[in-house]
Amino acid sequence: MRRIDRITDLRACLEGWRRAGQRIALAPTMGNLHEGHLQLVDAARRCGDRVVVSIFVNPLQFGPGEDYDRYPRTLEADCAKLETRGADLVFAPSVAEIYPRSTAESTFVEVLGITEILCGASRPGHFRGVATVVAKLFNIVQPDVAVFGEKDYQQLQVIRRLVADLDFPVEIVGVPIVREADGLALSSRNGYLTPAERARAPLLYRSLCQARDAIAAGERDFTALCRRQLEYLQKAGFRPDYFEIRRPDLGEAGPDDRPLVILAAAWLGRTRLIDNLQAP
Ligand code: PAJ
Repeated sequence: MRRIDRITDLRACLEGWRRAGQRIALAPTMGNLHEGHLQLVDAARRCGDRVVVSIFVNPLQFGPGEDYDRYPRTLEADCAKLETRGADLVFAPSVAEIYPRSTAESTFVEVLGITEILCGASRPGHFRGVATVVAKLFNIVQPDVAVFGEKDYQQLQVIRRLVADLDFPVEIVGVPIVREADGLALSSRNGYLTPAERARAPLLYRSLCQARDAIAAGERDFTALCRRQLEYLQKAGFRPDYFEIRRPDLGEAGPDDRPLVILAAAWLGRTRLIDNLQAP
């Protein structure tokens, strides 16, 4: 497995693979890799001949007061995991390599509409940061295919829109959420939870399952259902951010729309957790 931190070195390596007719798959990450990330690598291996994993904690997608400074950086352990999982190349650039200019003089990518709801409403600028770094990674790596987790469901839809609107010649593949045995979706941020918070955290997934079951049992008043689930989360000790039922493209859901996706974000102490579940 190659480890590269400069764009020029990366391009030289990729050019050889491309000349040999190899299909390149990219899995973008911020590191601190867990089984959810590693299943993206597995999916990338199924989609391409060469797997590139990027590890870059992107300052642009963190708001003021968010966890950019304390976000776990574990490059050595990450590379060891990627090696055993069969990645071909790890691209781990510095911030200066990706953003050589001050933000006052830079170009940004903004996907409108879909970024203003859900997580976008409570994290202004977050998806602008995600869309900008992903557009840059697509231009740097020029992958044939890129894999993203359904864990960040809205992010996946933002990337699909970005690729469609700006005509990136990249196939986007979504990978199902990997969960702990108790239902908690794997996340680098789970490491922030205290033992007491960790014990309560699976109730976020349970609240989604309850909503899915209510819909399956014929519930049609989504506003009332979401309100009930917000109350459930509050009583369970969360500070909920949103609990919403939407169409798969994240448009407003009417009572007869199917399938649906149920999305929630909630704080547990200092940790913001997100999760989602599809309802058939
Ligand atoms: P990060 O949070 O490191 O996640 C990298 C990728 O792993 C994302 O596509 C995310 O959806 C996926 N992922 C995380 N946890 C998962 C789980 N439990 N099951 C399945 N997939 C999971 O998302 C980002 O980084 C950044 O925003 C990035 C796209 C790299 C841009 O900076």
